[in-house]
Amino acid sequence: MPRILVIPGDGIGIEVTEVSVSILKAVGEKNGVEFTLERELLGGCAIDEHGVPLTKETIEKAKQSDAVLLGAVGGPKWENLDHHLKPERGLLELRKQLDTYANLRPAIVYGALADASTLKREVVEGVDIMVVRELTSGIYFGHPRGTERINDLENKAFNTLNYTTSEIERVAKTAFEIARKRKNKVTSIDKSNVLESMVLWRDTVTEIHKREFSDVALEHLYVDNAAMQLIRRPADFDVMLAGNMFGDIISDEAAQLTGSLGMLPSASIGNKGAIYEPVHGSAPDIAGKGIANPIASILSMAMMMRYSFDMDGAAAQVEEAVTKVLDKGCRTSDIYEEGKTRVGTEEMGSLILNEL
Ligand code: IPM
Ligand code: MN
Repeated sequence: MPRILVIPGDGIGIEVTEVSVSILKAVGEKNGVEFTLERELLGGCAIDEHGVPLTKETIEKAKQSDAVLLGAVGGPKWENLDHHLKPERGLLELRKQLDTYANLRPAIVYGALADASTLKREVVEGVDIMVVRELTSGIYFGHPRGTERINDLENKAFNTLNYTTSEIERVAKTAFEIARKRKNKVTSIDKSNVLESMVLWRDTVTEIHKREFSDVALEHLYVDNAAMQLIRRPADFDVMLAGNMFGDIISDEAAQLTGSLGMLPSASIGNKGAIYEPVHGSAPDIAGKGIANPIASILSMAMMMRYSFDMDGAAAQVEEAVTKVLDKGCRTSDIYEEGKTRVGTEEMGSLILNEL
C-alpha cells in the first residue's frame, strides 16, 4: 500500500491540504488504490509543539513514506526567531534529508485565465513551461557560510555557491528526460560569464547533452537575459533548467505569467523521497478565512500520482477536472474576475471532486 505523509504546515497550508486529501482519497477509490495516510507537523506549528521546525521523528516518517504532501510553512508569529529556528529551515532540511534534488515547477497559462495575467493575453497565451530547479545544493547549502565580526565597526556575512559535476549531471538528466516527454527543448540558465561554479554548470550540461541527449534541443542563457526573455517571449520556452537560487527566482517569475501563484503546483523528486507542495506560501493574511485557492495543492497531488505512483491516468483525471471547473467560470478570490462565480476553498474542492 502506498504510504503518504501529509504535512499541512501553517496558515492556508492547512486548509488547502485538507481539500486535496479529500480528493486524493476519491482518486484512490476510483483507481482501486488504497493510500495509507499519516500526518506530521512542520514549520511554525512544529515550533509551537516541539520547539523545533522539524523533528527527527518527522524526518524518519518522511523517509519511510513513498511521498510527502506538504502545505506551506511560516507566518509572522515565527518571523523573529533565530535563523536556525525559522519555519523555512524545517522545509530546507526536509528537502536535504530526502535528497529531493530536482524541483519541478510547471507554469501553465489556462485559456480561461489568460486575462488574469499582468501581461497581455497574446504574450502569455499557450505558455506551458516546466522549471527544473536544483534543490539540495548551490548557495542555499554551500559552506563556508556565516557572519563574522571583522572589526569594531563591521560584520562580514558570507555564503558559498558551489556545485559538483555529479550534482549538476543528475538534475540535468531529469530536465532532459522531462523535455523528451514534452516539446523536447531545454533552456539551461547560468551566469558562466562571471562565476566559476556556473562555468562548470554550463560545461557539464553541454557534456551530458552531447553524451546522452543530443536528440533534445539545448540552449544556454545567462540568468539576467533569461529573466528578460521570460517576460518577452514566454511561449518559446519548454523546460528551463537552473541551479537552486536562480531557479527560485525564475520560477516565481514564471508563476506570475500565469496570473496567480494560487494555481501552481510543484514536485521535488530524487532517487527515493518525493515532496509535493504548492509553490505559494502560507499566506497568513487570508489564513482561516476559507477563501484560499486549493488548486495548487490539488495539482501537486496530481503530480504525486504521476511521478511517485506512475498513475498518469489518475493525474490527468484530476488535471482535467480542474480545467472543467475553471471553464465553468468558478473562481476563488485570487483569480476572481467580473461575471464569474466566486467560490471558497471547500466549495472549489467539491466542484473538482464532482468532475472526477
Ligand atoms: C520556495 C521558497 C523557499 C525557497 C523558501 C520558503 C525557503 O521560496 O520553495 O521557492 O527559497 O526554496
Ligand atoms: Mn521561492
